[in-house]
Formats: sequence, C-alpha cells, structure tokens
Amino acid sequence: MSHRELDKSIPPICMSGRSRPSLRRTHHRRSQMLAFNRIPPASAVIRRLLTALLFAAAVGFPCAIIYHAASPKTPLIFSPPSGSPPVGQDPTVRLAPEPPEVDESDSDSEEVKLERALRGAAMEDKTVILTTLNAAWASPDSMIDLFLESFLIGNGTRNLLDHLVIVALDEKAYARCLSMHPHCLALKTEGVDFEGEKFFMTPGYLKMMWRRIDFLRIVLEMGYNFIFTDSDIMWFRNPLPYFYPDGDFQIACDKFLGSPVDLQNLPNGGFNYVKSNNRTIEFYKFWYSSRERHPGSHDQDVLNRIKYDPYIGEIGVQLRFLSTAYFGGFCEPSRDLNKVCTMHANCCLGLESKLHDLRIMLDDWRNYMSLPPSVKKSHPPPWRVPQNCSIGSLQQH
Ligand SMILES: *[C@@H]1O[C@H](CO)[C@@H](O)[C@H](O)[C@H]1NC(C)=O
Ligand SMILES: *[C@@H]1O[C@H](CO)[C@@H](O)[C@H](O)[C@H]1NC(C)=O
Ligand SMILES: *[C@@H]1O[C@H](CO)[C@@H](O)[C@H](O)[C@H]1NC(C)=O
Repeated sequence: MSHRELDKSIPPICMSGRSRPSLRRTHHRRSQMLAFNRIPPASAVIRRLLTALLFAAAVGFPCAIIYHAASPKTPLIFSPPSGSPPVGQDPTVRLAPEPPEVDESDSDSEEVKLERALRGAAMEDKTVILTTLNAAWASPDSMIDLFLESFLIGNGTRNLLDHLVIVALDEKAYARCLSMHPHCLALKTEGVDFEGEKFFMTPGYLKMMWRRIDFLRIVLEMGYNFIFTDSDIMWFRNPLPYFYPDGDFQIACDKFLGSPVDLQNLPNGGFNYVKSNNRTIEFYKFWYSSRERHPGSHDQDVLNRIKYDPYIGEIGVQLRFLSTAYFGGFCEPSRDLNKVCTMHANCCLGLESKLHDLRIMLDDWRNYMSLPPSVKKSHPPPWRVPQNCSIGSLQQH
C-alpha cells in the first residue's frame, strides 16, 4: 500500500554515514509501508509447525482461515461507518489513500490522522500502547473483549486503557473498535483480501507482517515510544516499572534463559517496548531491510537472525529480553501471580483453544485478586492453564 502523503511528511532520519548501502535503500521504500497485520500470533516455533500443518488441515486455526492473499488489483479500502463523528472531534483516525472526492473526514493527511491518534492516547512521556485487531478477533465475546477485560481486572491497569490505540486491520474490526474504545486507527492493506480464508504465511501475510515493522518505525520517527502488544496478551499489572531503564528495544520471550542480554533467548514479537531514538529508528530500518536477505521469512524469524549481526553493535541499540517471570505465556508461564504483568496465549493452536484457556486465565486472576492479602502473599494459587493450549511439548520442535 502506498501512503505517500505520510511518507513525504516525515523527515528522513539520517545516520550520518553509519548506514549501510542496503539500509539506505529502505529510505526509498517508505511508499510501501504503513499497514500491517499481526495475525493471531503463535511462537516462532509454533508458526513453523503450523506452516507445515496448514496444508494438511486448515480447520480450526484462526490465522489460516481469516485471510487469503488476493490479486493486487483489488485493494481493500475501508471507511469509517457512516454516521461516525467528524474527524475534528473524533479521536479515531483512518489511514487509507485519500479518495478523489473531497469528504469532510478525509480532509486531513494520513500523517495528521496518525499524529492525532497517537497524541490523543500518549502518556506524558509520549508513550503509547498499540495493538492490532482483525475481524475474527473483534467479534463479540472474542479476543478483544478478553484483552480489554484484563485491563479492567488487572492491578493498576485500568487507566492504561487511556493510552491504548487499537489498530484495526479491516472494516469489521474498525467498527467494533469504535463501539468499545476511544482510540481506534484504521489501516488498510492494499492487495490483501480480508474477506478470504487461508492466509498464514502466504505472500500477503508476509507483506503485512513486514509492514507492521515499517509502521512501527514511523511511530518511532514521530517521536513516540510504544508498547506493542498482541491482543491475545492479558495485562494484569502495569509493565512500565519492569522495563530496563537502559534498554532501547525490549521484547518478551517464548523462552527466557535467565539473562536479559543473552541473545540466545527466544523473543516473541507479540510484545515489545521500544523507545523512540535514533538507534531504534535505525534498528527498525535494518530489521526491515534484512527481509531481503531472508526471503519468505517473517519478522520474528529475521529478528532471531539479525540479533547476532555486528551491525546491531554499530548502531548501539540496546536490546533487552524480558523475563517470563513477569512477561509470561503458555510457552513458559509466569509462575508467580504476585509478579505477573502479562500473559500471552502463545504456544497455542486454534482460536477456540486460545479463548477457552484465556477465559480460565482471567478466572484464575479474578480468584487471586479476591484473596486476602496475606494469602495472596503466602499462597498465591497456580494457574490452571494451559489446558486446551497444551502443545508446549511440541515447542522444542
Ligand atoms: C495491587 O498492587 C498494590 C501494589 O503492588 C498492592 O498494594 C495491592 O494490594 C494490590 N491490589 C490487590 C487488589 O491485590
Ligand atoms: C538523531 O540524530 C540527529 C543527527 O545526529 C540529531 O539532530 C537528533 O537530535 C537525534 N534525534 C534523537 C531523537 O536522538
Ligand atoms: C477443550 O478441551 C476439552 C477436553 O479435551 C474439549 O472437550 C473441549 O471441547 C475443548 N474446548 C475447546 C473450546 O477447544
């Protein structure tokens, strides 16, 4: 998709001679950016597994059935539902090419709309929380409901909803967002048919995953720090106090080996905290440009390779891997409910299984919260999950 309006308006960030030629090329690629999809995530390992499984049986796997790649001739363009408030008073924005006909709600450039959404949700230090949403996860009593509910029942997480921007990837998700949340942003993806079924690991899927990286770079270039979270991650405590003060790019893990700087940790792109600075902007450009050297790979796989690249050291970007003690998931649960910040439904096949186990997880949390403080402290109950998501045994390949 091309968002040339936005491209032009963002001043290029130059690393004064530090960029490699391959990175410079990314400066000219801005027109391709700004739409992405994080398909319902699974761990890198599980993703690989699924790629194989999908061709045998696509049934029951949400990534597989939601989308399929369509002819590039049929761009998806979706508009806010009619009757949505004028943009002037609307904290939501729409990112789609300007239609030729002049429409009140389209009179602002894409950049202005994006800036407005970010500004409307930002904390004082210009940090925003970003998540993505597609139709399947937006239907009533589905993922987005559990996600938002976790903020309401978490300890000290309710006010974080003021800083959450939901990035809708299709029309249904956008409409649902408008009905339940003040900060919605609509992104379109040209050449990808959101009404289709099979999508996982198709060229269209990869395209959207990579656009996510490019989109997040734009957010950084606009001066916003962000916490990106998949919406199958439950928030139980405010994660901000648990980030490393000296880290630029901090990411949760499917498997955490004990040290936040150990590059062998297995990161999961579903949750990361990134500060806006020259190092992270260059890092995102490098990450994005590296896809060319690893064709057919998605962002998480490429991250697992480039994390060892000496250029990371040259950029000086400080990578930190977050402990699963605080940022857990079904792959490696955060065992102590007195510590847990977030729990990700990773290592899980199938939307129904995910929802099933996440509901139990929320019940476990509510039960924990209802205990007297002394019991909480001395005998925090264990999670009863994963249950239907019990494919942990497969994670070692
Ligand atoms: C929430 O966290 C605070 C500070 O950690 C703690 O004092 C309080 O008891 C917690 N609230 C509940 C309901 O557990
Ligand atoms: C990035 O580097 C440029 C040029 O060196 C500098 O002017 C700018 O202030 C830096 N920006 C940030 C966010 O550090
Ligand atoms: C979860 O697993 C149980 C036991 O295997 C099964 O009966 C149930 O249908 C599953 N539920 C979902 C939503 O997958």
